[in-house]
Amino acid sequence: MKIVVVNGSPRGKSSNTQIMADALLKGAQAAGAETVNVFLAEKEIKHCLGCFTCWLKTPGRCAIKDDMAGVLEAIEGADVLILASPLYFHTISGMLKVFMDRLIVNGDPHFAKTASGESRHTKKAGAKAPRLVMLSNCGFPERSHFQAMSHWVQRVALHMETEQLDEIYASQGGMLSMELPSVATYLQWLNKAGGELVQGQALSKETKEALAQSFLPDEVYIEQANQYFDRVLSGQ
Ligand SMILES: Cc1cc2nc3c(=O)[nH]c(=O)nc-3n(C[C@H](O)[C@H](O)[C@H](O)COP(=O)(O)O)c2cc1C
Repeated sequence: MKIVVVNGSPRGKSSNTQIMADALLKGAQAAGAETVNVFLAEKEIKHCLGCFTCWLKTPGRCAIKDDMAGVLEAIEGADVLILASPLYFHTISGMLKVFMDRLIVNGDPHFAKTASGESRHTKKAGAKAPRLVMLSNCGFPERSHFQAMSHWVQRVALHMETEQLDEIYASQGGMLSMELPSVATYLQWLNKAGGELVQGQALSKETKEALAQSFLPDEVYIEQANQYFDRVLSGQ
């Protein structure tokens, strides 16, 4: 079982996103998975040019020469692909979006109707979509901030015709680096989630519920955040 995390935080290895990814991967490794962690912040990946060279002139080969080919090699054969990103303006980071756009190189241009009556590009012969996991954290305390991201990744999963989609969202993301019992417990649940991914089942109801918990009551979090901003802005 190969599990790949693509971390799209510009903060890379120091990101709150990575605290979540590390805990998830630790659980997956303990359950016997081979894991790969790609940090887009350390790669040069240029914007897709929209030239369709990779579809129509040199099928499967992109016209742009940069680090994307190496990343594609790293994710090749993944059973589970974890898209890891901070929430930026209600959706994934620009860095992760640039990477996603470049995945077009793996596609086939032909259109086909699916059972739902909506058109998709057909899959390349023999291509198997990995199981998909969306992993994210955000600054605000309420989980409603993930609505647009969740809608986006559900559409991506439909488009990729992947077998399964799991979504793990932590609000109050700034707390992830704090030594708090609630954070330690959350990271243990992420360990468990990593093991569940390897077992190949959907995340259990118990795990999903635990991963939807806040670290602090919203009012306490807001008060502490505002006090922190005041301290920093006043140079204390
Ligand atoms: C450009 C930008 C946009 C952001 N947009 C949101 C947002 O829409 N909602 C939110 O709750 N937090 C937002 N945040 C806060 C980040 O999601 C938060 O700081 C997160 O913990 C960063 O995670 P990272 O350390 O993994 O990069 C934004 C931060 C930045 C820099």
